Amino acid sequence: MKVTKSVLLATAVVAGGTIAGVVWAQDSADTNMDDRELLTTVSDHWRIHLLHDMREGLFVQVQEILQANADGDMATVEALATERGKAHFAKMDPDMMAELPMGMKGMGKAMHLAFDDVATAARETGDPAKVAGAVSDLMLACTACHVTYKLNP
Ligand code: HEC
Repeated sequence: MKVTKSVLLATAVVAGGTIAGVVWAQDSADTNMDDRELLTTVSDHWRIHLLHDMREGLFVQVQEILQANADGDMATVEALATERGKAHFAKMDPDMMAELPMGMKGMGKAMHLAFDDVATAARETGDPAKVAGAVSDLMLACTACHVTYKLNP
């Protein structure tokens, strides 16, 4: 199920015209367990920045959202998710964006929009189960990119 949804998400990004040639060969029964594309155009500066933001920004924030959701604190869920939604586009450095392939930018955008969907679920439903579903969809955006690209050789 999760695999299917990830593939669908990647396909949707392709259909959106934002990406060319994302192939997730998850079923390769043979030797190659890592067929991710290495991002060779990313400088050390932005590689370190991206990894830091993943590790200490995104990952932490998803956990905080889940905790707030478990507490039934919808205002905090909404605030945390909104911060990482479309609002985040303005904070992205054009120099960094210039080094990223179109496909990755498309997946990044899908992820930020999925954060907004989490905020909307919190605001409009106030239902922790609905919010959890939206967080699950959000995490498909994380995994779709993680199975496609790598920064570290
Ligand atoms: C647009 C692409 C993309 C999206 C979306 C994305 N990531 Fe990543 N992330 C990467 C890449 C590329 C790496 C580096 C992986 C490697 O080189 O092995 C990475 C690495 C990480 C790491 C490891 C950092 C380190 O220090 O090694 C964490 C943790 C992480 N991501 C969390 C997340 C979470 C949580 C989300 C979703 C909320 C997310 N990422 C969404 C591309 C993405």
